[in-house]
Amino acid sequence: MATTQKSLVIPAAKAPLELRDMPIPTPGAGQVLLKVMAVGLNPMDPARQKQDMMIPSYPVVLGSDIAGVVEAVGEGVVDFKKGDEVFAQAAMGGGYQQYVALSTKILIRKPKNVSFDDVATFPITFSTACVALCAPAPIGIGLNPTLSSDKPHVGKSAVVLGAGTSCGQFAVQLLRFNGFSTIIAYASAKHTEYLTSLGATLVIDRNDSPLADLPAHPALKDAPVDVVYDTVLGIISSAGGSGDATGTQAVTPVDIGYDLVKPHGLLVTVNPRISLSSTRTGKEGVVLTKSMGFYVGPDVIPSPMSKVEHTHFGRYIIERLPVLLEEGAIVGNRVEVLPGGLEGVKAGFERWYQPGAGGVSAVKLVAHPQETV
Ligand SMILES: NC(=O)c1ccc[n+]([C@@H]2O[C@H](COP(=O)([O-])OP(=O)(O)OC[C@H]3O[C@@H](n4cnc5c(N)ncnc54)[C@H](OP(=O)(O)O)[C@@H]3O)[C@@H](O)[C@H]2O)c1
Repeated sequence: MATTQKSLVIPAAKAPLELRDMPIPTPGAGQVLLKVMAVGLNPMDPARQKQDMMIPSYPVVLGSDIAGVVEAVGEGVVDFKKGDEVFAQAAMGGGYQQYVALSTKILIRKPKNVSFDDVATFPITFSTACVALCAPAPIGIGLNPTLSSDKPHVGKSAVVLGAGTSCGQFAVQLLRFNGFSTIIAYASAKHTEYLTSLGATLVIDRNDSPLADLPAHPALKDAPVDVVYDTVLGIISSAGGSGDATGTQAVTPVDIGYDLVKPHGLLVTVNPRISLSSTRTGKEGVVLTKSMGFYVGPDVIPSPMSKVEHTHFGRYIIERLPVLLEEGAIVGNRVEVLPGGLEGVKAGFERWYQPGAGGVSAVKLVAHPQETV
């Protein structure tokens, strides 16, 4: 086997991505060496590069949504063997290269009936939607703490703010999986057919209805919902429209969520820096849950935001997700494969940096590191 590999490295703070020849790691105790067949891109990655954020040291290889084949196992590993097909959330990165050593604690088995590309769309954003909606407090709103297929919420209603995002697409599916009868998706109208196929019962066009106007929408005005899930980044001004409005007039997407939810309803955001404005108080039994999408805890992820509760709930994701995939109960995001292997990741990053570079619209960008020349 070769001893070096192609890696897409950020050599120093805010430096451009650089393709380098790097040593193939040897898996340590409790680790496997994974041959990376597909890696999904997340908006956090270009943000981390651009802003020198959440990167403890350089050089660094990002890439958290990893799917591949076990190439070798480290000391003490008995549950996995060479040739096993798996996917994993490597929260700190490592996927934008051809081989990576990963702890067995984060590995999820890939069913044969789904592709590496499909499963590479799951690790970060499915976990984010799933923890937020299904995990018990304090990390989620507890709709289905064991991920049972019993549809425990038939008759209930929900709104997904930002349903076109990868997180939002999985949220819509998870609400359907949990039996919700009304699932209102706030997204671009062009995604109506797609989001309906995932479970949305109504799509409200975000280009036609500014977020601030949503509480007055005919479908919502006199029909507060049981659950609001927010994945919209940023602030909206009280005058309507989206953007980064500042000042005392600003309201956040979770303020709008607060306005939409019933007393004693459940309100959750996956943007943990967002809080309810001081004007949003007094609705009985409504608190905002801020959620992080980890399925392992601080023993694996060196972040104060990862909790032991992530490990407890995460074992249901690790055990149940392969079954749900095999049954077709949950499907992956639509995929766009970037050409040129790891070189394609550079162009993918540009899609978030530059509005004119093509954007990312209800699709998951995926790269194939083995195709790098
Ligand atoms: N807490 C956690 O652990 C965690 C983990 C992952 C992500 N997140 C957060 O979740 C959010 C979504 O991430 P993602 O990877 O799922 O995003 P993504 O797939 O890259 O999102 C792209 C989509 O965002 C939609 N969008 C952009 N602005 C919008 C707005 N103002 N209202 C509604 N939709 C809008 C776009 O819609 P169009 O198609 O209409 O253009 C596009 O389809 C981000 O804010 C991210 O920071 C949190």
